[in-house]
Amino acid sequence: MEDYVDEGVLDEHTLKTLYRLSSRGVFTALGGVLSTGKEADVFLAERGYEDVAIKIYRVATTRFKEMREHLTGDPRVRGIGGSRHSIVYRWTQREYGNLRRAKEHVRVPEPLAMDKNVLAMEFIGEDELRAPSLRRMEFDDWAEIAEMCVEMLIDLYEGGLVHGDFSEYNVLVFEELVLIDFSQSVTPEHPLATHLLRRDVENLVSFFGSRGVELDECEVLERIGEAL
Ligand SMILES: Nc1ncnc2c1ncn2[C@@H]1O[C@H](COP(=O)(O)OP(=O)(O)OP(=O)(O)O)[C@@H](O)[C@H]1O
Ligand SMILES: [Mg+2]
Repeated sequence: MEDYVDEGVLDEHTLKTLYRLSSRGVFTALGGVLSTGKEADVFLAERGYEDVAIKIYRVATTRFKEMREHLTGDPRVRGIGGSRHSIVYRWTQREYGNLRRAKEHVRVPEPLAMDKNVLAMEFIGEDELRAPSLRRMEFDDWAEIAEMCVEMLIDLYEGGLVHGDFSEYNVLVFEELVLIDFSQSVTPEHPLATHLLRRDVENLVSFFGSRGVELDECEVLERIGEAL
C-alpha cells in the first residue's frame, strides 16, 4: 500500500483507513488499480482467495460543491459539516447506504464495509478480470437487454431509489446485468430526483437507440412512475 502513497495516489489519512479496514478483515491485500475516475479510484483487493473491489473517493475532489448540493437535498443526510473531509465521508456513506438499499431490489455488488472515504464491495468479475460494461458487449437481441434495463430502473424506483448516473458504463455484464456506481442515487423525495430520473431515462433511450432499439422516453418514464 505504501507504494501508492509514494506515487501520490493515496494520502496518509486514506492509508490509515485502509489499514483499519484490513485489520477488520475486510480485505487482506490491496492489488492494482481497476479504474481512475473523476472522483474516485477503484482498486482490486483480496480477501483470502476472494476478490474484493475497493472504491476510494479522493478528498481533494473537484466536484465537492456539487456533492454538497446533492447531500443537502437528501432527507437521509443531516448536519453535513462544511469541510471537504466531512462531505466526502458523507458521500461515501451514502453510496454504501444506497447499495444496501438497492441490493434488495436489483443485482448490485454486495456492499461489504465502509470507513471514511473508502467503500469495500463484492468484485464483479472473475480471476481479477472485471466484468465488461454494456458499452463493450455485443448482443443479438438488444431489445431484450433494453427491457431488462427498464425493469431494473422500475424495480429500483419501487425500492425507493433513482440511480442518478445510469449509463452503459455503469451496467456490468456478469452472467446477468449488474448495476454499479450508486454515488448519485437519491430517494424519490429528493429535489433533484425528477431531474435525475429524466436524465437516466434519456441516457437509456439514447444508448439503446444507438443499438437499434427505439424506445419512447415518455413511455419509459410513465412505466417507472407507475411503480409507486
Ligand atoms: N464492484 C466492482 N467490481 C468490478 N469492477 C468495478 C466494481 N465497481 C467499480 N468497478 C469498475 O470501476 C469503474 C468505476 O467505478 P464507478 O463507476 O463506481 O466509479 P466512478 O467514480 O463513476 O468512476 P468514473 O468517473 O469512471 O465513472 C467501473 O466502471 C468498473 O469498471
Ligand atoms: Mg461510473
